[in-house]
Amino acid sequence: MPTPVDIAPARGKLGILLVGLGAVSTTTIAGVLAIRKGFSKPIGSLTQMGTIRLGKRTEARSPRISEVVPLAPLDDLVFGGWDIFEDDCYAAARTAGVIEPALLEKVRPELEQIRPWPAVFDQHYVKRLDGPNVKKGKNKKDLAEQVVADIRRFKSDNNLDRMVMVWCGSTEIFATEAPAHADITAFERALEANDPAIPSSMIYAYAAISEGIPYANAAPNLSGDIPALVDLAARTGSPLAGKDLKTGQTLIKTIIAPGLKARLLGVAGWYSTNILGNRDGEVLDDPESFKTKEESKKSVLDYILQPQLYPELYADLCHVVRINYYPPRGDNKEGWDNIDLVGWLGYPMQLKINFLCRDSILAAPIVLDVALFLDLAKRAGMSGIQEWLSFYFKSPQHAPGLYPEHDLFIQLMKLKNTMRWMLGEELITHLGREYYD
Ligand SMILES: NC(=O)c1ccc[n+]([C@@H]2O[C@H](COP(=O)([O-])OP(=O)(O)OC[C@H]3O[C@@H](n4cnc5c(N)ncnc54)[C@H](O)[C@@H]3O)[C@@H](O)[C@H]2O)c1
Repeated sequence: MPTPVDIAPARGKLGILLVGLGAVSTTTIAGVLAIRKGFSKPIGSLTQMGTIRLGKRTEARSPRISEVVPLAPLDDLVFGGWDIFEDDCYAAARTAGVIEPALLEKVRPELEQIRPWPAVFDQHYVKRLDGPNVKKGKNKKDLAEQVVADIRRFKSDNNLDRMVMVWCGSTEIFATEAPAHADITAFERALEANDPAIPSSMIYAYAAISEGIPYANAAPNLSGDIPALVDLAARTGSPLAGKDLKTGQTLIKTIIAPGLKARLLGVAGWYSTNILGNRDGEVLDDPESFKTKEESKKSVLDYILQPQLYPELYADLCHVVRINYYPPRGDNKEGWDNIDLVGWLGYPMQLKINFLCRDSILAAPIVLDVALFLDLAKRAGMSGIQEWLSFYFKSPQHAPGLYPEHDLFIQLMKLKNTMRWMLGEELITHLGREYYD
């Protein structure tokens, strides 16, 4: 038997720091509170409902993940966060309009106690937003220090044992790696010089990572995915995960595309369009924020279909992604996909998908799982990029020189095998010859 990884027990309270108390964050927090009180079920959450097969099929051992992996229990979670609006978490959840008022009322006192701390915000990076609850500082280094002070205060006020931070703020404008991101010396110099290459989300990421706190990015902007912060995370022991939660249309894309490729069906075109009416939709209506999202959504098919290996099937694929802001729908997004397929002898076929989903209902269990798994990783001494959490992201953060794994089923296998490895259980290869020898 392999040796299990030494994992510190999940003792005491775990603080979950959420940057941005918008639709995703409030749906996560209100959901956890409602589940804790027995009003609802944690549907969609692998940490709460998933099982894991251990050993051979003949052993019939498939416990719940939460029974064998030492995760923080929901009762031990304490939420806190920042926003540019002053609304408490109850008011913010009402504005988001995701969870029905009757259920929100049942957790109202707890939600009202969560009031956002003033945010690090600069409209340069999110053009469609502006709000009053914003920090002032000498420079970006000073702002980062203010975030660290918030984190430490939250920890002592709530007597927390550990913390995790998840960026659930708006999508920032498109940016690529700059000299300021190369290493921590350049990054810290750039913080002091107010370099425009450092958006608000990187300031929060820097603050968390410098404190050794695990950091995840639910949005597609660069944030923690730069060499300076990855190196810092290795030094401070912070596990990292991102970017951009895999929900809605991209989730379906990464379910369907591996199946088409498995059967060697060609794809001539994939047209994806969405209508969305929440604040995220409004932010994404700005072309610069949309460009960040578009890059994240479009890379998925290239990696799954591997046109370099199957040029006759996928080299000429025309992939178009559109998001249109349409207020009447609120958080209830509607996505349409038209897929032009090519079969035997080149005969064309079409597949149409119309997904009437609820964005934040799909996102909330992911935020919960990612937070709990990052805390597990920290207690297991795993720092830096956590590739095993690719399962949850549209643009999985990955080591330089490696391509990211986008196929949902390979991602799930990677995640579960990582847990088996932690537990000292045999990895499952699905070879299965032993049953026939
Ligand atoms: N809902 C989903 O299914 C989904 C999926 C993938 C990614 N995301 C991403 O997650 C993020 C959150 O989505 P949402 O639907 O909750 O959006 P939202 O607009 O409802 O919430 C974002 C919140 O972040 C706040 N904010 C923005 N910049 C901030 C800053 N610098 N500091 C503190 N607060 C800040 C905003 O005021 C707002 O309240 C977005 O970037 C979105 O693209 C969402």
